[in-house]
Amino acid sequence: MLPKKIEKILNEQIQKEGYSSNLYLAMASWADTEGYAGISQWLFAQAQEELEHMMKFVHFINERGGHAIIPAFEQPPVKFDGIKKLFNQVLEHEQYITSCINDIVALAIKENDFATHNWIQWFVTEQIEEESSVQTIIDKLNLLGDKNLYLFDRDIMSLRGAGK
Ligand code: FEO
Repeated sequence: MLPKKIEKILNEQIQKEGYSSNLYLAMASWADTEGYAGISQWLFAQAQEELEHMMKFVHFINERGGHAIIPAFEQPPVKFDGIKKLFNQVLEHEQYITSCINDIVALAIKENDFATHNWIQWFVTEQIEEESSVQTIIDKLNLLGDKNLYLFDRDIMSLRGAGK
């Protein structure tokens, strides 16, 4: 049985993962219209991955006897202030998501919910990877300065392709 407090925090995470997906989708669409084919491809793949994260929460809550609630999502921004700022925004967002995952870990321990504690470890590992992959991109962008975004746009395709 899923403790009520755990059901609540997991439902809140559905909203956060779903918003992450929409945020990256908005970024992808913007980058696409700006002519950044590689960057938009990376972001579209990221949006898809976040959708999968959301689905994992939906299924887990229901499997444990709770009720996954599909929420309304706030509209993400429409325009972004350049590629560098966009990736910094992605990193900040992922750091926020990591802190939310950590809150779930802490609550699972507090509530003696070892099943959730065990299950959420996948996300703990995933967040390390997500932050690291975005940091790699930011490091590359810093090395390039404001030039060569065309080459970077091609380079990013080899970092991820159409997803992991
Ligand atoms: Fe699902 Fe990027 O956190």
